[in-house]
Amino acid sequence: MTPKEIAHNLFYVGVNDRQKELFENLWPLPLGVSYNAYLLVDEKIVLIDTVEVGYADVFLKEIEGVLNGRAPDYLIVGHMEPDHSGSIRLLRRRYPKVQIVGNSKTFEMLEGYHGITSGLYEVKEGDALHIGSRELRFYMAPMVHWPEVMFTYDPKEKILFSADAFGTYGALNGGVLDAELDLAPFRDEMIRYYANIVGKYAGPVQKALGKLSAMDIQTICSTHGPVWREYRAEAVALYEALSRYEGEHGVTIAYASMYGHTEQMAETIARSLAENGIKPIAMHNVSKSNASYILRDLFRYKALILGSPTYSNQLFPEMESLLGKIEIRQVKGRLFGCFGSFTWAGASVKRLAAFAERMNWETVGEPVEQKQGLSTRQACRSLGKAMADRLNHRNL
Ligand SMILES: Cc1cc2nc3c(=O)[nH]c(=O)nc-3n(C[C@H](O)[C@H](O)[C@H](O)COP(=O)(O)O)c2cc1C
Ligand SMILES: [Fe+2]
Ligand SMILES: [Fe+2]
Repeated sequence: MTPKEIAHNLFYVGVNDRQKELFENLWPLPLGVSYNAYLLVDEKIVLIDTVEVGYADVFLKEIEGVLNGRAPDYLIVGHMEPDHSGSIRLLRRRYPKVQIVGNSKTFEMLEGYHGITSGLYEVKEGDALHIGSRELRFYMAPMVHWPEVMFTYDPKEKILFSADAFGTYGALNGGVLDAELDLAPFRDEMIRYYANIVGKYAGPVQKALGKLSAMDIQTICSTHGPVWREYRAEAVALYEALSRYEGEHGVTIAYASMYGHTEQMAETIARSLAENGIKPIAMHNVSKSNASYILRDLFRYKALILGSPTYSNQLFPEMESLLGKIEIRQVKGRLFGCFGSFTWAGASVKRLAAFAERMNWETVGEPVEQKQGLSTRQACRSLGKAMADRLNHRNL
């Protein structure tokens, strides 16, 4: 890319990664991802974050493209996860005098990852850094997504540098600002990113949003995805809704099946939901859909129905794995239904019901357990109808 001026004297110097298959070696990246970094050119030159180390060379060239031989005075480190901090050591080698701005937790990690212990400028909540015509301010946002995360705010231009908050998967195809991009794919990807990466930290996200509500913010520069300006209110509203686990009207059905019996139960439940006026219905075969997408739909919709055959006296392994991912994220307030099948001694439905109890979710309808090929069509239809009635009449 060529560096782009996204606000007065503020340049985008991030990179697109369209090579990596799995973010954090877990989450698929069909649309790629961007690692965003920003360069603020005032009397002092300030770089905000770096990029994944594989892109360090591209990144350093981007910076040189803006600075023409000058050197950055400060590097502000908003987040030490290696997708943003990976190039710090190489940056320091290229610009030995750059002062690194962070908090005490940042510096502990900086030493651990990079062995860097000097040329540091420590900041605390609300501290200011004078850089000429503006004064940057720092606000701690612990656990959005790691303990050292901090936001940087430019009150003059009303720009927030928000680290992973308001980030999304999806490379930046030409544009950088939201208004320059087709945002349709980013809505799905932003929910998926939240569900995968930030979803466990709803409390810290709410706290951070509380701090932001007192500030006048015209532009949000996150570390992944578009720069939010025209749609900044939508980005904040989405985070509000997701961190309250609100859940839109709709149902996610996730099922496991080896020979199709449990799958046919899922089909019947889905049909019954649709006949009772429910849409959207998201359906996932857990052996095929990556959990990343199931978690996205779980965060998006209010109701979840899970089905699994009994497998060696347990749940089907992929279903067990999904439950673990949901439990870690402490998802709240879902309406829950479950079903399953077995041949000699059923265990799966009991385990799914116990899971819902652990999650403190409301179970809707009667769980359906099917032995061998005996049809439970009517019971599945009733489960679908009960969930539809509950969703249609719930107090929002
Ligand atoms: C590897 C394997 C392990 C199984 N373990 C059990 C079990 O412990 N208890 C049981 O009642 N049925 C067990 N079954 C039978 C399945 O639960 C039963 O056939 C179920 O209906 C399969 O659902 P499906 O057609 O959706 O794959 C097992 C089947 C397989 C292939
Ligand atoms: Fe992160
Ligand atoms: Fe990140």
